[in-house]
Amino acid sequence: MKTFYHTTPIYYVNDVPHVGHAYCTVALDALSRARRLQGDRVYFRTGTDERGQDIERIAREKGISPQEHTDRIAAVFRDLWDRLDVAYDGFIRTTDEKHKRGVLRLWSRLREATVPGGQSAIYRGKYTGWYCPRCEAFYDEEDLVQPGNSCPDHLLPCEWTEEENFFFRLSAYGDWLEKAIRNQEIRIEPEGRRNEVLSVIRQGLHDVSVSRARVKWGIPVPEEPTHVFYVWMDALTNYITALGYAEHADLYGIFWERADERLHLVGKEIIRFHCLLWPAMLKAVGEPAPTRVFAHGHLTKGGRKLSKSTGNVIDPQELSARLGPDAFRYFFLREGSFSQDWDFTDEAYTKRYNSDLANDLGNLVSRSLTMVARYCEGKVPPKGEATPALEPGPVLDRYQALDFGGALGTVWEAVTRLNQLIVVNAPWELAKDPAQRPRLDALLYGLLEGVRQIAALVSPAMPRAARRIFAMLGIDRDPGPQDLAWGVLVPGSSLGTIEPLFPRVESQNRKEAAVSEEKPVPPAAAPAAAPVPVADAPAPGGDRIDISEFARVELRAARVIAAEAVSGSKKLLKLQVDLGTEQRQVVAGIAGAYAPETLVGRTVIIVANLKPAKLMGLESNGMVLAGSIDGKPVLCSFESDVPLGTKVK
Ligand code: MSP
Repeated sequence: MKTFYHTTPIYYVNDVPHVGHAYCTVALDALSRARRLQGDRVYFRTGTDERGQDIERIAREKGISPQEHTDRIAAVFRDLWDRLDVAYDGFIRTTDEKHKRGVLRLWSRLREATVPGGQSAIYRGKYTGWYCPRCEAFYDEEDLVQPGNSCPDHLLPCEWTEEENFFFRLSAYGDWLEKAIRNQEIRIEPEGRRNEVLSVIRQGLHDVSVSRARVKWGIPVPEEPTHVFYVWMDALTNYITALGYAEHADLYGIFWERADERLHLVGKEIIRFHCLLWPAMLKAVGEPAPTRVFAHGHLTKGGRKLSKSTGNVIDPQELSARLGPDAFRYFFLREGSFSQDWDFTDEAYTKRYNSDLANDLGNLVSRSLTMVARYCEGKVPPKGEATPALEPGPVLDRYQALDFGGALGTVWEAVTRLNQLIVVNAPWELAKDPAQRPRLDALLYGLLEGVRQIAALVSPAMPRAARRIFAMLGIDRDPGPQDLAWGVLVPGSSLGTIEPLFPRVESQNRKEAAVSEEKPVPPAAAPAAAPVPVADAPAPGGDRIDISEFARVELRAARVIAAEAVSGSKKLLKLQVDLGTEQRQVVAGIAGAYAPETLVGRTVIIVANLKPAKLMGLESNGMVLAGSIDGKPVLCSFESDVPLGTKVK
């Protein structure tokens, strides 16, 4: 068993959480869960960065105290992490007393420290420079945006500042940092970020001013009580104060001093603080440095930076409420490459949900379990010759590398393989022949085990779905290390209740289109009470049938798994449809309105007990239901996702 310390940045509380905060936190939660799943010990800490001039200003504008403001926002962060199923072990706030004690302890040790060469690590000096109070950072002249000497981030004027400060002698640590980074004592990922940091070191490091004379909302410097600690010096220290550094707590020994990995996950914009100032301060006081710093990329929308001031935002609360926390987590982990920047679109969000979750995973689970319910009386069948469908090792390796797309992509290859296995082996055919029983049992056992292993391996990304799949398999707990092996399900044990996992949804755009179609604006010239044409309207008082006559028609939900044109016909399409327990060929007269490729994956309603007929020489075993508008077919469908084979009454 290995011991890992995992941290997110502590987030500024100038506003409510932003999707970037959720992206980073969910990713670290997934890594933490993956490592716990393989039996390792993880301490996952997140938190909030609550000090500084910007917070002071925002609270003043709201007419409340900085503490009141930070209390409110910190609570919103915690609430979002709860909604997103983020299982953190520690939440540090830089207004916590234990944090303050830790900063003061680090400071007193820095005051005593000397750097390589023998000079003191801290000295008094004069600081002059362009200061952005919103970033809490000084900028070099060449980084300012002209005209106006503005901050490159906020595009608002910086202030020329001159003050007497305490300085940390970072310049003395260039050689040590370069060596530690090159020999992987401090692993910086991805490679491009590592090169960036090495090139900054080669250009020569400058000393850093670590106190501020003009800020009030901070921790006072004991030797100069009108000064507070520089917000980055204060914030970086959180990584150890959260573990009880000031109190010499056991947690500090276990998860900092003796951990196998001390990992800081950060956005790419703050890599330098984490790879230069922070390890150097630790080195100065003789504490171990982080062993791994991983910089992830940024999310954009419409190719632009996310920014509240320009209205270019993505609301994590709304997205998670729309499709659920699992879908939110899955999407952000699967869609882009974690170390690169990538662009969010609503369309991609819905598309991934429908294709990967509703179709691929949802159907695999529902088909596999429904067949066991039907052919094995809901009990796990004998193992027979069943063989494993996937290897957990490579998936876990991808999680460890923070390659979430790779980890989930590898699981999805298994999802696809198992879905194909069903199609190729046609269990509904095997079920008709008692001599095929051992084959059917082995096939179904393999499917159940595949589903169970898949649930375990997606649990870092989708803890709720994993738990629900386990419940359907009759396992009443979260996946754990014992679930990585193959052959865990005991033949004869009962499955739980089968329920839909990810009901299909319509895309936002289609919903909007549907709303505008519902209320067509009549052309200006049309009479107000123009009659609405109704296609094939029933004659009032025409022949009616008895309910028992209707009951003879068996209507069922089926998925189109293949579709092709019928040569020589403009109207007909040849469809292969899956009813959950069997597949059939149906010939449908819908070619005038639907291209074959648009039908694959769609759920339709078919008349399942129609006598087979031949159309253009092709056998048709059922009929697809569609409305007819001016002779054009419009397929009937369900408002939300239903298991295949569902009866329509
Ligand atoms: N308080 C500092 C960090 C101190 S850590 C000792 C800070 N806070 S922040 O609120 O600005 O959050 C920064 C982090 O949020 C980034 O490093 C990144 O992890 C995440 N994101 C913020 N915007 C982002 C995107 N647009 N995209 C992805 N994540 C980004 O910096």
